[in-house]
Amino acid sequence: MTSGFSIMDFEIMTERLYLSIWEESDAFWYRELVGERGVDKPTLEDARQHVISLRDRALESGIGALTIRRKNEGDMIGYCGLIIGRSTIEEPEIAYELFKSVHGKSYATEAASAIIEAAGATGRKRLWATVGSWNIASFRVLEKIGFIRHHSTWKEDGEEVVWNMRDL
Ligand SMILES: CC(C)(COP(=O)(O)OP(=O)(O)OC[C@H]1O[C@@H](n2cnc3c(N)ncnc32)[C@H](O)[C@@H]1OP(=O)(O)O)[C@@H](O)C(=O)NCCC(=O)NCCS
Repeated sequence: MTSGFSIMDFEIMTERLYLSIWEESDAFWYRELVGERGVDKPTLEDARQHVISLRDRALESGIGALTIRRKNEGDMIGYCGLIIGRSTIEEPEIAYELFKSVHGKSYATEAASAIIEAAGATGRKRLWATVGSWNIASFRVLEKIGFIRHHSTWKEDGEEVVWNMRDL
C-alpha cells in the first residue's frame, strides 16, 4: 500500500552519512538513544520489537524513518526520515533524533536534506514537521532546510506544538 506514491528510497548516501532501513540489530543502540530522552530505557526485547515494527511499517507504507551511520567512523548516530506522526501518508512528517554526542555538526541538516529529496522522488508535494515550541535546535534545522512555521496546536498538558511546512 503506497497510496499512489512511489516507494521511498530506503538506502541513501550523503557526503558523510549512510541512511538505511532498520535492522533487528539496531535495537542495541536504539535503546540507548531512547534513554537520552530522560525516560526509562526500553528493555532490549521491547527495543527489538519496536525496530522490527518500524521496518515492517516502512515496507508496508512506502515511507519510514531511516537509521543514520557515519561513513568514516562507521557508528550509528540516530535516525531521520518520514513518518505519518500527527499528519497523513500523503503529507507526512519529517522526523529526526541523534545522539547528544554528535549534535551541532550539521548531521541532522545533512540527513534531512536527503530525506526531502527522497520525499519529492515519491511524488509527494508537501511535508510537515511538528515541534515542541521549546525545541530551538529542531526549529533551526527546519529553517535551514526550507520549512516555514504554519500554525500551532496545544497538547492536553498545555504544551504548544508548532506545525512547520515545506512544499516540495
Ligand atoms: C534536533 C536535532 C536532531 C538536531 O541535530 P543536529 O545534528 O545537532 O542539528 P544541526 O547541527 O544540523 O543543526 C542544529 C542547529 O541548531 C542550532 N542550535 C542548537 N541548539 C541551539 C540553541 N540552544 N540555541 C540556538 N541555536 C541552537 C545549532 O547551532 C545549529 O544551527 P547552525 O547550523 O545555524 O549553527 C538534535 O538536537 C536532537 O536529536 N534532539 C533530540 C531529538 C529531537 O528533539 N528531535 C526533533 C523532534 S521535533
